[in-house]
Amino acid sequence: MAIKNSLLVLALLLGSTTVTSASPLRRSTCDTIETGYQCQTDISHYWGQYSPFFSVESDIQDEVPSNCEVTFVQMIQRHGARFPTSKKTVKYAAMMSQIKASVAASAYTGDYAFLANYTYSLGADDLTAFGARESYNAGEKFYNRYQSLADKVAPFVRSADQERVVATAKNWTAGFQAAKSASSMLPILLISEADGQNNTIDASTCPVFENSTTGDDAQDAWRDVFTPAIRTRLNNALPGAALTKSQVIYFMDLCPMETVATATGTISKFCKLFTEDEWRSYDYYQTLGKYYSDGWGNELGAAQGVGFVNEFLSRLTGSLSYANNDHTTVNHTLDVSSVTFPVGADYQFFADFSHDDPMTSIFSAFGFYNETATLSTSVRAPANETGGFSAAWAVPFAGRAYIEKQTCKTTKGCAATNEYIRVIINDRVIPLQNCGADNLGRCKVKSFINSLSLAQSGANWDQCYA
Ligand SMILES: *[C@@H]1O[C@H](CO)[C@@H](O)[C@H](O)[C@H]1NC(C)=O
Ligand SMILES: *[C@@H]1O[C@H](CO)[C@@H](O)[C@H](O)[C@H]1NC(C)=O
Ligand SMILES: *[C@@H]1O[C@H](CO)[C@@H](O)[C@H](O)[C@H]1NC(C)=O
Ligand SMILES: *[C@@H]1O[C@H](CO)[C@@H](O)[C@H](O)[C@H]1NC(C)=O
Ligand SMILES: *[C@@H]1O[C@H](CO)[C@@H](O)[C@H](O)[C@H]1NC(C)=O
Ligand SMILES: *[C@@H]1O[C@H](CO)[C@@H](O)[C@H](O)[C@H]1NC(C)=O
Ligand SMILES: *[C@@H]1O[C@H](CO)[C@@H](O)[C@H](O)[C@H]1NC(C)=O
Repeated sequence: MAIKNSLLVLALLLGSTTVTSASPLRRSTCDTIETGYQCQTDISHYWGQYSPFFSVESDIQDEVPSNCEVTFVQMIQRHGARFPTSKKTVKYAAMMSQIKASVAASAYTGDYAFLANYTYSLGADDLTAFGARESYNAGEKFYNRYQSLADKVAPFVRSADQERVVATAKNWTAGFQAAKSASSMLPILLISEADGQNNTIDASTCPVFENSTTGDDAQDAWRDVFTPAIRTRLNNALPGAALTKSQVIYFMDLCPMETVATATGTISKFCKLFTEDEWRSYDYYQTLGKYYSDGWGNELGAAQGVGFVNEFLSRLTGSLSYANNDHTTVNHTLDVSSVTFPVGADYQFFADFSHDDPMTSIFSAFGFYNETATLSTSVRAPANETGGFSAAWAVPFAGRAYIEKQTCKTTKGCAATNEYIRVIINDRVIPLQNCGADNLGRCKVKSFINSLSLAQSGANWDQCYA
């Protein structure tokens, strides 16, 4: 497509006529999209990467200390809630046909009664209205947190080019500009997700990694532990359905998928068919998928995030050498140009939009969950016991990471300052683990840069073609 091949696609955003005024944060209630959107958190916070964004509990306050000012921010955000992928759509539709064809109409009773009239009819691949709102809210929230920096410089925005990601970036910038009472539009640089393209926010050029089955194997092992009892119950309740182990997972998927297909996240009737404990097992199943497909559980997981970390280092330091020296996923045509990869004093504010899988790899390359011990495929480990890592805590729909630089006055007075890096993922401060963090979870900028030696060395990318 010609438009995608052009060097820089400037997507014009909502015009001034449609920009509405900023709404205040509503952190005190639990029934808004912004805060996890409803009060049934025992369910919706255990949907793995299908959880809508929620504020994850934080052991460290996320406020900027009063002696500090945020002087640089790199944000990376996942697209908002979406319909099922095309691939899953086929599976879900087939499962529902199988049920309809084999279960007698009179058999749908109790909590299953709604299935008598249920037909699978969700869209595919695209952002939902709910997801658009999550994204818009995220833009507002980002502006409100970083207002003093945002009033000085505009964010440089990039997006992977799948439609739902681009739509997220657009809704986010609309929310950001509305909160700023700005009527201008922000350009968005689209980066191709096509096979063979170097793309630091959606890598796809490592053949060994693309062929890896480590994630599927880990999920299958845990599926075989937790689904048998559920399968028996479902097949008893729906005589003739003969759901398989995989279909138990699909059946559970329909709870989050039907929920986020409604404008305000009305909890689907599918959700009630499972217990809170079962949702925790489902959540762990999704966590294993991310960890063993894209994170430290996959030998080449972190390597997929290295290009982004090197770009981050160039942005943070103003030196192009990090990006230039990358031999993993950086597109050097893009990164030698100040139009498509600006760095330096005037550029201290960056927002990137992507998917859950590449974000998991990027977090690994940064070492954000380095304290997470190898995850068991036979015993469930909750996020609060795995260094804060779970699919729901790290990469829910509209999940976002802020990497901020704080410039802080020292008690020595004069003009003396210290510079720190702090990382916040879905409102949870991630205490930095490899650079001698202080009690606010921060590291000195220099120590943080030094801790990213894995990325600077290219990790084990050479094994991609083994
Ligand atoms: C299913 O639809 C029929 C016909 O519209 C209706 O009579 C019945 O009450 C519905 N059943 C449920 C469980 O909603
Ligand atoms: C998201 O963007 C689409 C397309 O620009 C627009 O129609 C929709 O109103 C936006 N939604 C929100 C919540 O901003
Ligand atoms: C690098 O980016 C340019 C500009 O978008 C594009 O034309 C080219 O195909 C990309 N090359 C690779 C290898 O990704
Ligand atoms: C990946 O899988 C494809 C199809 O199975 C195969 O043709 C290809 O050789 C594999 N690549 C590597 C690097 O293993
Ligand atoms: C794409 O990445 C490969 C591997 O790092 C590199 O050899 C190639 O030069 C890159 N292409 C561009 C256009 O940057
Ligand atoms: C995280 O841990 C891995 C494995 O021990 C190590 O190779 C990597 O350097 C660490 N990452 C950082 C950023 O320190
Ligand atoms: C983690 O959370 C679970 C419930 O979600 C709780 O039972 C457990 O005690 C918590 N563990 C720690 C170490 O706080």
